[in-house]
Amino acid sequence: MKRLTDKFGRQISYLRLAITDRCNLRCQYCMPAHGIDIVDRQELLTYKEMYRITRILSELGVNKVRLTGGEPFVRKDFVKFLESLSFNDHLDQINITTNGALISKYIPELEKIGIKKINLSLDTLKADKFKQITRRDLFAETWLTFEKLLASILELKLNVVIQPGVNTDEIIDFIELTKDKDIAVRFIEEMPFNGKGLRVTDEVWDLDKIYAEIEKTYKNIRPLIDKKSSTSKNFRIQNYKGSFGIIPAFTRTICNDCNRIRITATGMFKNCLFDDGVFNLRDFIRKGAGDEEIAKLFIDTVQQKPKNGFVAEANRKDKNVSESMSTIGG
Ligand code: GTP
Ligand code: 5AD
Ligand code: SF4
Repeated sequence: MKRLTDKFGRQISYLRLAITDRCNLRCQYCMPAHGIDIVDRQELLTYKEMYRITRILSELGVNKVRLTGGEPFVRKDFVKFLESLSFNDHLDQINITTNGALISKYIPELEKIGIKKINLSLDTLKADKFKQITRRDLFAETWLTFEKLLASILELKLNVVIQPGVNTDEIIDFIELTKDKDIAVRFIEEMPFNGKGLRVTDEVWDLDKIYAEIEKTYKNIRPLIDKKSSTSKNFRIQNYKGSFGIIPAFTRTICNDCNRIRITATGMFKNCLFDDGVFNLRDFIRKGAGDEEIAKLFIDTVQQKPKNGFVAEANRKDKNVSESMSTIGG
């Protein structure tokens, strides 16, 4: 069954599937103020195509799917698609990464469908700063989603992109949320996937600096044993209910155990977050490829997975890493 192994022996079991490139927010670290040039609808994979791709991958050993965007809930009928995916019994986990601004009303349905985990992107606990970061005044809706998720059976992680001079002063406030809430707060190194390229700042907030900042306040930080292929290094403040983690997204020290592949909303297959796309699955499918052919393509392509994100970046045709995260799915 497990047939997706790369030449470094890494087994691929986790698909990140982007539902759309559209988003209802305009986060500074993800896209310019005017947004991105979104693609025509017919360029997006249809739900039927996404279902088929996921089925074929799940027969090759993928057992975890994360639905991303853009914002997945902005695409019509996303919840119906989730329901159809839930009938695939090769999948142990169907998880979602969302900005939460549209979804508070869907939570009971997500519980019913059997969605396991939600990663909620939330970079500040202050409404005015939320508006500054996301260029949209939707903090209240997002916070409502946060509260409803807390009360639900879904496992909740908060994703906090660390932005120098913007939200580094809130790191401790975020950790304090874990005192009596069973959540995981994860601080993410900012990457240049913002539609412009590398941001010039005086400070570089990488994993070490984020950890050092936390250590200034807490003397009782306990490291946790991370799951193999975890994107985050995880910790708990002694006696706190929840945990916190740091994702070395840009310094890329997690590549040895990478178990991920990505498919963008337009059907571009990516072996690595930092590569520029390996082939367009949508065109291959629309030319009439059969299941066996598609499976063979996956098996062969995974062989080319680069050793790490630095190799992937060096191999790009367009050397600049600057595409919006909204087109990749994170
Ligand atoms: P879990 O399944 O809960 O571990 O989630 P995840 O961390 O895989 O996914 P999520 O969508 O919450 O992504 C959190 C951050 O990690 C985002 O900034 C992603 O871009 C980044 N990330 C996810 N996977 C990778 C990866 O393979 N490499 C790198 N460098 N960053 C990643
Ligand atoms: N750098 C780091 N993380 C980012 N995300 C979006 N853009 C960036 C970036 N430039 C995060 C989102 C979301 C996850 C999928 O990726 O906040 O939580
Ligand atoms: Fe995997 Fe690439 Fe991320 Fe490294 S940078 S963990 S190889 S996706």
